[in-house]
Amino acid sequence: MEFITKSEEETKNILLDILNINPLENKALIFVLEGELGAGKTTFTKGLEDVLKIKIKSPTFNIVKKYEIDYKGFKNFYHLDFYRVDNIKGLDFEDIILNKENLIFIEWGSKVIESIPDFAKWIYFSYLDKDKRKILYESN
Ligand SMILES: Nc1ncnc2c1ncn2[C@@H]1O[C@H](COP(=O)(O)OP(=O)(O)O)[C@@H](O)[C@H]1O
Ligand SMILES: [Mg+2]
Repeated sequence: MEFITKSEEETKNILLDILNINPLENKALIFVLEGELGAGKTTFTKGLEDVLKIKIKSPTFNIVKKYEIDYKGFKNFYHLDFYRVDNIKGLDFEDIILNKENLIFIEWGSKVIESIPDFAKWIYFSYLDKDKRKILYESN
């Protein structure tokens, strides 16, 4: 599916569409968000704030932010951003990705591609114009 959004709000709404078409499986639900700086990855993630009733802060300086949630059986939301690092050292990454109570969004996951499991779902963002972004999602 390809979406063109014309505002931050529209990008946040696409998040709900994508979340809803993914049935629950017996593992973590992982989305890897790819695209240049400013393409809208964090904005898209912030679409979760209302659904999960949390306030999302960019994890760029922390690499990982964990939020406690109660949503469709998910107990934790992990927001990871590998922009400043290129390895998963010190993160308990295996435990995080194998726990089916975890909903996980990963920015710059291509930097740690060898650690991303094959069941992760990839979403591609591109900058088209000042307020316009393209979001490409291929559900499997
Ligand atoms: N259609 C749109 N979708 C998402 N962000 C947009 C859009 N139009 C403008 N923006 C702006 O672009 C910037 C996107 O930044 P951000 O989401 O942090 O990108 P990334 O996390 O990919 O680096 C924000 O300042 C946002 O307000
Ligand atoms: Mg970001």
